[in-house]
Amino acid sequence: MRITIPTTVILTLAVASTVYAAPAAPTHQLEKRGWFTDKLKDLFTKAIKSLECGACVAALVGAKDISYLNKNWVLDAAAGMCTDFKVMPKDVCHGLVYSQGPVIVNALMQASLLSGDGKFMCHQILGACPSQGVQSGIVSFPKSKPANAVAPAHSGQTVDILHLSDWHVDDKYLPGAEADCNRPLCCRKYDDSPVTPKRKASSWGDYKCDSPVKLGEDLLKFVPKVANVSFSILTGDVPPHDVWLQNRESVIREEDAAYKTMAAGLSTNLYPTIGNHEAGPTNLFPTKATGGDIQWLYDSLADDWSRWLPADAVNSVKNYGAYTVSPAPGLRIISMNNNFCYTMNFYLYGKTKDYDPNGELKWLVAQLQAAEDAGERVSSSATRPTLLPSSSLVTPYTDINPGFRIYKVDTKSWNVFDAETYVADMNLAPSWDATGATPNWHLEYSARQAYGAYVPVAPTAPLSASWWHNVTSTFETNQQAFQNYWTFRGKSANRLPACTAANGCAKETICNLRAGKSSDACSEIHFSVKRDDEHGENMSAAAADPTGLHSLYKRADPKPWNKKLCGLGAQFNL
Ligand SMILES: *[C@@H]1O[C@H](CO)[C@@H](O)[C@H](O)[C@H]1NC(C)=O
Ligand SMILES: *[C@@H]1O[C@H](CO)[C@@H](O)[C@H](O)[C@H]1NC(C)=O
Ligand SMILES: *[C@@H]1O[C@H](CO)[C@@H](O)[C@H](O)[C@H]1NC(C)=O
Ligand SMILES: *[C@@H]1O[C@H](CO)[C@@H](O)[C@H](O)[C@H]1NC(C)=O
Repeated sequence: MRITIPTTVILTLAVASTVYAAPAAPTHQLEKRGWFTDKLKDLFTKAIKSLECGACVAALVGAKDISYLNKNWVLDAAAGMCTDFKVMPKDVCHGLVYSQGPVIVNALMQASLLSGDGKFMCHQILGACPSQGVQSGIVSFPKSKPANAVAPAHSGQTVDILHLSDWHVDDKYLPGAEADCNRPLCCRKYDDSPVTPKRKASSWGDYKCDSPVKLGEDLLKFVPKVANVSFSILTGDVPPHDVWLQNRESVIREEDAAYKTMAAGLSTNLYPTIGNHEAGPTNLFPTKATGGDIQWLYDSLADDWSRWLPADAVNSVKNYGAYTVSPAPGLRIISMNNNFCYTMNFYLYGKTKDYDPNGELKWLVAQLQAAEDAGERVSSSATRPTLLPSSSLVTPYTDINPGFRIYKVDTKSWNVFDAETYVADMNLAPSWDATGATPNWHLEYSARQAYGAYVPVAPTAPLSASWWHNVTSTFETNQQAFQNYWTFRGKSANRLPACTAANGCAKETICNLRAGKSSDACSEIHFSVKRDDEHGENMSAAAADPTGLHSLYKRADPKPWNKKLCGLGAQFNL
């Protein structure tokens, strides 16, 4: 799961409340529009430079007020800002603003900005306000916790489970196209693509691109060489990262094609999960309370998944985008739809008091109770697994090697005994083309071996949650252990920026490894632009960049661990 909506789109909607303290607005419709959009752009510039909580909230209030006059004016201002400051090419700016923007504007109109929603948004999306905490509710289990429950013994036999994530195969991938382009996704032909690329896309993929179809196919072909897979799971995100182009039609077409490819390449059942990229536009999952339609997606996926799922699960997908299935006696998989707790699902900001949108948690509890009654072990599959760093990503996008993971799971206790991650070295792709070779899939590491070196685990013991916790404790005290982790996190491509105790990254990363909830706010925002109203201002830098925007987006040290600012620096590598 990658966060992909640039901050400009959001912050551009941010304008200060001074709009209404200003002299009387012009009366002609066209003049009015110009006056308000200019005001919005102005105030946005100020808001993004100060990045103060009060300014951010006031900005949202201003945007909300203008929305009542004409929603399009807010969007026009946002699109104008995005292009004026050359954050992205015009087509990308417009695509993003006019697909994501209407939902943000509607959320603003539904929100109680001055009763906490404003601060909440400013914290979650920008990190401009302190963490607000989350208003929680209680979803009770129908029955009380069983007394003296004992975990089942291990059989001592393991089976192999294939874990795929972030398929992101791009059927518009074009070998020979520009791999170092100015858009969020490269290796495609765009209207203004140069005749002679700076770097040609190989036929197997590139670090700035999603996977070509044949990379996905080759991966699936390789799996049986290293594992006897009993069944497979896919934790979401099938469409490519052309988020400014994604809509209902593109999603349906891409999902249909991808699941066909997977069905052809896998000899086992696949149990998929809905990720944030499954929506069209990306991330936007309406709830019953917000208005908006997502039934088209559930119906389409239910169809794609009916190859592998029993009828009751297919039915559940149509209702919840979630389902349960028992792939083997004693084991139950619960495939959740986590998009109702995703911070970039802008629909949620209009209904922040709804702690269980669409009753997904209520549904989950019912499934857990049923599994408990049946004496089953449960494995939950969601698009943001927290137990292991998500390194089963098929896509090399961005700056990581493509890969997959094999879990070794006990056939009776269903505990995980090992997680083996396989990768191919994307930097070698040009040489595969030159010699007619295929990707060099190979074992990157076994979690048991790699981390067992630091936190010993008995041969008869599984990789338990408590063991993983101890591994994260080692990361705090042993720099080498943490650096090994960081290398694995980049899938051994060694292209991620340094993450150390000294630059604050290690602490945040370890916090995030342990955090199970969006409200466990680990990350602090790191701006390279200093406030213009406070001491410490570097005047020469400020003079060279009067708006401050350029340097903000040009942060020289993209911090992939920083979830705020939407990972923009990391994504665009500006
Ligand atoms: C709102 O603004 C757009 C231009 O941004 C214009 O086309 C439209 O007619 C306006 N709507 C109303 C109701 O004034
Ligand atoms: C799969 O199982 C068969 C039969 O037990 C065995 O011969 C083969 O080596 C196994 N393959 C892998 C990759 O483990
Ligand atoms: C984790 O560490 C604690 C404290 O050192 C220890 O008691 C416990 O046995 C460890 N658990 C595992 C599974 O390593
Ligand atoms: C101020 O910014 C300029 C231009 O970016 C830079 O060369 C200089 O080293 C900075 N000075 C300080 C004290 O940070």
